[in-house]
Amino acid sequence: MDHFTYKNGVMHAENVPLPLIADEVGTPVYVYSRATLERHARVFREALADVPDKLIAFAVKSNPNLAVLKVLGAAGMGADVVSVGEMRRALAAGIAPEMIVFSGVGKTAAEMIAALDAGIGQFNIESEEEGVELAEIAAERGQVAQCTLRINPDVDAGTHDKISTGKADNKFGVPISEAGQIFGALARLPGVNLRGVAVHIGSQLADLAPLEAAFAKLGALVEALRGAGHTITHVDLGGGLGVPYRVGEVLPAPAEYGAMVARVTKDWGVKLIFEPGRVIAGNAGVLLTRVVRVKRGIKDPFVIVDAAMNDLARPALYGAYPHFEAVAPKGGQMTANIVGPICETGDTFAMGRTCDALEAGELAVFRTAGAYGATMASSYNSRGFVAEVLVDGDRFAVVADRIEAGAIMDAERVPEWLA
Ligand code: LLP
Repeated sequence: MDHFTYKNGVMHAENVPLPLIADEVGTPVYVYSRATLERHARVFREALADVPDKLIAFAVKSNPNLAVLKVLGAAGMGADVVSVGEMRRALAAGIAPEMIVFSGVGKTAAEMIAALDAGIGQFNIESEEEGVELAEIAAERGQVAQCTLRINPDVDAGTHDKISTGKADNKFGVPISEAGQIFGALARLPGVNLRGVAVHIGSQLADLAPLEAAFAKLGALVEALRGAGHTITHVDLGGGLGVPYRVGEVLPAPAEYGAMVARVTKDWGVKLIFEPGRVIAGNAGVLLTRVVRVKRGIKDPFVIVDAAMNDLARPALYGAYPHFEAVAPKGGQMTANIVGPICETGDTFAMGRTCDALEAGELAVFRTAGAYGATMASSYNSRGFVAEVLVDGDRFAVVADRIEAGAIMDAERVPEWLA
């Protein structure tokens, strides 16, 4: 459930009519709902009520906006980060360092040092090589890094190939077949306290079965590691729960996920860490856009909107389906190709889509854009970076300025020898 609803025929974010935001901030603009973010944080926590000891660490990559992190931090979430940039955002939003988990396959030495300096709660080590390097760096500094070892369970998550992370040929984690040996080697090193294992098999998962299969493999591994004399106190189960992008699409609810987790992990006797991203932020945001022009087509017309693949990359990158609707529908329908202004055919949000009838100058939204939306924006075609707004009841604030193309150009230099 979200707080983007029609009131008197006009879509509102909570109590704010979207045309007001478009007038004051311009378009395209991402609009987030505080009440929706808080609701999703609460629902996810309640779903895990039967898991006694846990940390829910929001996957910052899904929406790193400072104001969003502030809302989620205040709602009791920690942060899952994959770069020092994300770590700094989580800290700036007031999230306690102990509640920050550092994942990612390519942590640099400088990032390890910054994270040790900040005193973050956990490193999820992705390879033996990384573990050895982290142990050396921590030991040199007289520190002990709290760590888990990320396992690649070789489970097909059944999602898009580009967001699948738990198959044997993916770059993530260590092969489960070698996990015991690598764990043993790293556990001996001063500088790291290897206290558990981690897994994340992919994103936008529409089925709990692959997750359950991965968790079951992890449970068996925990038993084997304990059998070999290791002390296992933490298991990180990652994120991945999908959200509905289409009207009427039904996905596993957080409560079903929570029940499965509680059942599979009930005898593990560990603290569980969760790293949800999309399920928290996805439906808490829309991308508000204005129709530039409707162009006649051979078959269907092209509705050219002022948002493009640089603002919302998922359709171009993964062929993802974005739900599209008018902010003030007039009642009629049209079948159209919804496209952005960028000079690539890939800048297409939908082909042959039946949607609200729209004319030039009217407003529309792409729904479910709160996760992996603004965070994946670029300035391609020198379009600048899209603005972001947070709504709270009947007030709203710009929480990320639009970065105009001119400001990006200002950061560029023409060397003297070209002048
Ligand atoms: N933990 C780890 C280690 C991850 O790699 C990810 C996502 C998450 C947690 C959060 O997963 P979530 O709960 O959001 O599914 N840009 C793609 C999604 C990439 C996800 C990468 N990792 C998209 O737009 O679909």
